[in-house]
Amino acid sequence: MKKKKSNTSQSNEELAVLKQKYADLKKKYQEKVRQVSLFKTLEYINSEGFRLDLFLDRIIDWVLGATQTESAALLMLDENEGRLEFMVAKGPSSEKLKGLSVQIDEGIAGKTLSTNQPYISQNVTQDSTWSPRIAEDLKYNTVNLLAVPLRIRGKAKGVIEIINKKSGDPFVKDDIKLMEGLSNEIALALENGRLLDSARYKAESFSKLARLSAILNSSLDHQTVRIRALESVVELMECETGSLYLIDEEKDELYFEVALGEKGKAVKEIRLKMGEGIAGWVAQKGESDLVPDTAEDPRWAKRVDQKSDFVTNNMITVPVKSKHKVIGVLQAINKLNGRKPNQADLKLMENLSDQVAIALENARLYEEQKEMFFETAEALATAIEKRDPYTGGHTRRVREFSLAIGRQLDLTDDLLELLEITAILHDIGKIGVDDAVLRKPGKLNDEEYEKMKLHTSYGYEILNHVKKLGPAIPGMRHHHERMDGKGYPLGLKGNEIPLLARIICVADTWDAMTSNRPYRKGLSDQIAYEELKENKNKQFDLKVINAFLRAYNNGEIISQQKEERIKAKKKLKK
Ligand SMILES: [Fe+2]
Ligand SMILES: [Fe+2]
Repeated sequence: MKKKKSNTSQSNEELAVLKQKYADLKKKYQEKVRQVSLFKTLEYINSEGFRLDLFLDRIIDWVLGATQTESAALLMLDENEGRLEFMVAKGPSSEKLKGLSVQIDEGIAGKTLSTNQPYISQNVTQDSTWSPRIAEDLKYNTVNLLAVPLRIRGKAKGVIEIINKKSGDPFVKDDIKLMEGLSNEIALALENGRLLDSARYKAESFSKLARLSAILNSSLDHQTVRIRALESVVELMECETGSLYLIDEEKDELYFEVALGEKGKAVKEIRLKMGEGIAGWVAQKGESDLVPDTAEDPRWAKRVDQKSDFVTNNMITVPVKSKHKVIGVLQAINKLNGRKPNQADLKLMENLSDQVAIALENARLYEEQKEMFFETAEALATAIEKRDPYTGGHTRRVREFSLAIGRQLDLTDDLLELLEITAILHDIGKIGVDDAVLRKPGKLNDEEYEKMKLHTSYGYEILNHVKKLGPAIPGMRHHHERMDGKGYPLGLKGNEIPLLARIICVADTWDAMTSNRPYRKGLSDQIAYEELKENKNKQFDLKVINAFLRAYNNGEIISQQKEERIKAKKKLKK
């Protein structure tokens, strides 16, 4: 009996040992499984499509699964700002935490970081270290919490927090052990990931800057540069929309130079006082600003949203500075895919803004130069008209007629600009023609006509001295060529004659035919047009004549005689 009892007790003991061994093995096995699954997650870091935010997302999912808790968050130390930033947070209402930050010594996360030790709080409401600020904002009921430091080379660089066990149990030492093991693995992977991400970020920023610079340099037109600048910034910052404000120095106000989207027009009427709203604040201080949640910012000028029926959630606002002076403000609004803008976005936006400032300044200088250029050309043209008073207004009309024909021919803006300058200068060579010929009140004889013909060659010599006027030479030099090759100075034929010269030729001849001179009356519009048609493909290009007719029918071409009739009528009315 005794032996039997002893046998039973022995087998019970053996069973207990076996059970314990099984439990240990099971635990070890589960740990291994966890490790393998963690390693699989970490392996992702070496894959090509690595992105830090997605990686952190996976890590936190994994932590939630392994610890069976309701919420988890990972905070990283921003050494420049001296703050702990929520890189990722998961669980009820926690996603809103992403992008927020706490003081380096605030709450349990701050304590964990500064002591570089794990921290358990079994009941946060009784814990004086607990900072309820953020949890209250989220209306989330935190009961207990475990925080472990994320150590990189022994130093605490971040914190992982897990909150509320699903079972309702308190956190125990085993949880700390598990989390510390995890935290070491994560920290290492994170460091690698951050290096990779920052290298990629730098490369991406560089390529974005290069793209912006290429886009901005593709045009010098003021308006085009401004619109393109904003469109590119919105695209590169991955935002919903954006605005470009410029400063009205006289009124000390900001106005919307460009506002994208359907509601852009409504917004454009709004002006902000210096210092008003976030844009006004940035303009006044000359400093960049990041607003992760506009509703929380007392500076936010709501009337812009009210006017445009738009909801602004977050924005990055940076000053546009030229030679240390704020000339405008650039704003990127609502980061796409529900993401919040961060410090890296702000830095990128500042770099983009520098490019925009340079482009705006270049466009302004170019515009000024162009204006000066036109004024100089006009001054030259006026000088010839002063010598040849009978042709009053000829240059102006040839310029207007040529442009009207050019538009009908769908010339590009650049070509229209060249056409305009060429038309202004088309008779510049008349400066070199003798007064006796130029001012002769009547028909020229052969010898005089030969002298007059030289004006295209003189023009060529004059323009050849001014490098900037070089592109206007072909249109000016050949405006007396004929399609049949019987013109001057070179006797070019058909398409050998530059298009701008063929256009100016029609505009010039039409004006010469229809204008009154002291010694003869001009032809009527109808007869002059018949004359043009009569000479199609002999003197004139048919395509240009047709374009001329369309412009004439649109009322874009008004002969000198008609102009005078209109003037006379107006005088009578007065
Ligand atoms: Fe001429
Ligand atoms: Fe002319």
